[in-house]
Parts: sequence; structure tokens; C-alpha cells
Amino acid sequence: MPGMPRIFSGVQPTGELHIGNWLGAVRNLVHLQDTYESLICIVDLHAITGAFYEPAQHAGRTRDLAIGLLASGIDPDRATLFVQSHVPAHSELMWLLNAVTPVGELERMTQYKDKSAHLESIPAGLLNYPILMAADILLYRADLVPVGEDQVQHLELAREVTRRWNAAYGAGSAVLPEPQPLLTEAKRIIGLDGEAKMSKSKGNTIGILDSPEAIWQKLRPAKTDPARVTRKDPGRPEVCNIFDLHKYFSPPETVEQVAVNCRGALWGCLDCKRVLADNMAATLAPIRERAAVLAEAPGRVDEILAEGAERAGAIARETMATVHDRMGFLRAPAPPVQRRNVEPTAGP
Ligand code: TRP
Repeated sequence: MPGMPRIFSGVQPTGELHIGNWLGAVRNLVHLQDTYESLICIVDLHAITGAFYEPAQHAGRTRDLAIGLLASGIDPDRATLFVQSHVPAHSELMWLLNAVTPVGELERMTQYKDKSAHLESIPAGLLNYPILMAADILLYRADLVPVGEDQVQHLELAREVTRRWNAAYGAGSAVLPEPQPLLTEAKRIIGLDGEAKMSKSKGNTIGILDSPEAIWQKLRPAKTDPARVTRKDPGRPEVCNIFDLHKYFSPPETVEQVAVNCRGALWGCLDCKRVLADNMAATLAPIRERAAVLAEAPGRVDEILAEGAERAGAIARETMATVHDRMGFLRAPAPPVQRRNVEPTAGP
């Protein structure tokens, strides 16, 4: 929507959209569509530096994430939902930004240090990952970037890269606007182990498309207050992750009832989890239904992504034209339109 401030958000296609992603980020993006011109990008190029990347799964995971986002309420009529690799300018701008990004800054990134620490040979992609992120954002001259705490440092680097590019090629003006973080209420969803942040790498997740039975099977062994050794021990809801999850999925009366029944040892942990499982399944049911409909229509999903890439591509081309001009490149020749109808000369 022209006139609204623009936000850019990147989501990695790692294979499963879980309730941690949903509560922490996706639901927020759905709300932001009302007030911002939203670009939501499935960052398949970033994903190839990650631990979950498998070529055979890559396309499927990309489409599945699109389905998950659409089913969660991303509205393709309002938001631009697209796949990063479908707009080649992301990689192109990244290369240009390489020229103004200090290696020292990249090496300081916490995520880089964590991910490279145990590697004998570090792929350059792991180091350069934040430059691609900067390119994502700058390509659309986004005003704001919704970020969780784990990405704040990367956004700060993107801002630094923007300042350096503007200083080198902007002739004193902010040709590329410095993106601002849109910090949202930090929701750190703890996984079923009751310890670490919910994440696929920890195997402590519940998928937003999990069946009611699967939800129950995962919740059943989940960690609760360790002080409750037997059913008769009074529990402490304030230290129990299951109680926290109730706050997101159960109505306030139930949350209240859970607290009372836990403290008074009126319910066992399994009783409490049973109620949570039912409420979680009920909350996620409409998303599951919409996802099932979309999964039956992969052509429709691809069409939405094609429209998204078209819209995003148009903005990206404008930015690239400016960037190329400012950096002094010879104008590219106009695309050879006629050639489209020419048959390939050598067949297989
Ligand atoms: N690195 C982000 C993450 O892992 C994903 C991402 C890629 C992103 N490009 C972005 C987020 C641009 C915000 C803006 O979550």
C-alpha cells in the first residue's frame, strides 16, 4: 500500500514452522500487514548456509513455508510474499555491498562465532550472511525491519553497511535509507525440554500443522516443574513451561484454573497437559485446515509466489538502477526481447 511505511521481513525455510516461530514472529507479521506495506521474503539463499539445508528438500520446504505463512494469515492481496532466489537482485546487491563491508565487523557477529566455532573449514557464506541480509533490506529501501533479539546485531551491521555505502556513493545524502529495527515485545518460547528456546535444532518443537494426536504425543513427555515428583506434590506454575504455554493457547479462566489446580495438586501434570493439548489443537485447527486446502493446490501457491516476485522485482530493479548509476557502472544494454521466440539450436 503506497504511503504506508514499508517493512521487510525474512523467514528461513528450515522445514517446519513451529509454535515458537508462530507466537514469536509469524502472528506479529500478520498484524503488521494492517499498518505497513509488508514484504515477506522466504530467504532460501540464506538457508543454504544453515545446518538443515538439503538440496532434495529445498524446494519443498520453500513451498511449505509459503503454505504455512499463508495459512497463518499472510494475505497476498496486501503483503508481498516472495522467494528470495526468485529476485536475483538480492545476490547481485550483496556483491556490491561486499565492497563496503568490513570483514572485522562480520567476524564480530555472535551468530557467526557460534556457528563457525566447531567448523574446521568455514564457508565464506557463513561470514557473509549478514551482507545478504543487508542487501535484502536495502533492495526495498525498507523503513523498518521486525526483528527478534537474535537478529538485532545483524540489523545493526546492515545499518553500518548502509552508512558506508551512502558515504562512498551517496554524495552526502541518504540514497539508501538506514533501516530501523521494529522491536516487538520479546516472546521467547521455551521448548518442550523446558530449558532451551524452542528451535528445530533442539528437537523441542511442536509444529503449527501437527495433528491433535501429534501435539498430545509431544506434550505428554514435556518437562514440567521438577518439584512435582508425584501427583501429590504441589506445583509451581510460575516455573513451569507448560503453564506458560497455557497462557498462549488457553482462555484466561482456564489459565487461572490451571494455576489453582497445580498449586493445590488437584491436577496431575498429565491432566494439565491434556487440557493444553486440546486448546492448542483447537487454536491451530483453522491454520491446519487452510494449509490442507493450499497443499492441495500447489499451483495456486506458486502463482502467489510468482506475483510476489513480480512486485518485489519491480522495486528491486529501481533500486539496482540507482545503485548501478551511483557506483558508476556502464548501463546494461536493453534485454534482447526478440530472442525469446528463438528455438534452442542444440537439443539434448
Ligand atoms: N537472518 C534472519 C533469521 O535467521 C532471516 C533474514 C534474512 C532476515 N534476511 C533478512 C530478517 C532481512 C530480517 C531482514 O531470522
